[in-house]
Amino acid sequence: MTHTRIAIDGPAAAGKSTIAKRVAAKLGYLYIDTGAMYRAVTLYTLENGEEIIDEIEDHIHITFGVNNEVYLNDQDVSEAIRSQEVTKNVSYIASLEKVRTYLVDMQRKISEASNVVMDGRDVGTTVLPNAEVKIFMKADPEVRAKRRLLEEQARGNNYTLEELTKDIVRRDHIDSTREISPLVQAHDAILLDTSHLSIEEVEDKIIRLVMKHLEGD
Ligand code: DC
Repeated sequence: MTHTRIAIDGPAAAGKSTIAKRVAAKLGYLYIDTGAMYRAVTLYTLENGEEIIDEIEDHIHITFGVNNEVYLNDQDVSEAIRSQEVTKNVSYIASLEKVRTYLVDMQRKISEASNVVMDGRDVGTTVLPNAEVKIFMKADPEVRAKRRLLEEQARGNNYTLEELTKDIVRRDHIDSTREISPLVQAHDAILLDTSHLSIEEVEDKIIRLVMKHLEGD
């Protein structure tokens, strides 16, 4: 049986995970947050040293719970991977070949077993180049920084809008200029600029695209 795979890529804080989670819940598909996987590896290296990356497969095992919790070696790290320290270091860790090879392989294996909505930076280009539906989501940096500010405030983190804008621009730069699988729109991805769209409007557009695919168009 072939599965339906929905790839959602785009820069930091474009709204990918919020939308991907909702689309997955609506369709009954599995949601895979690939950024969370890079964050889990970053958390582990911050605690245990970067040398472990040489034998990453012996050290790091990542799984997802039914409510999208992220488990690193069977420990729930859903909160810990959102820390300032992890956010600061994740783009660097995600630029390492060994890390990418290991995680991309894991992401492909997960997608073989079920219908998935997978979000990240290189899902449509590298992880699932044959995904049935590909979306590239973007939004103006100021809009993204404002959205992230609200998220961080809800988590009790005190950032300023300026700090978050700077971090977003810095991560965009690292993510899109790295050598391996940089952040680029796949040639066959549909571009969605979410700057002036509500969550419901974006969700609705993606569901329509999936329905169109399922109807055999
Ligand atoms: O989406 P996020 O902010 O949680 O992603 C964290 C970092 O991981 C991001 O700065 C780039 C990297 N990343 C990546 O290189 N490839 C992916 N497929 C997903 C995330």
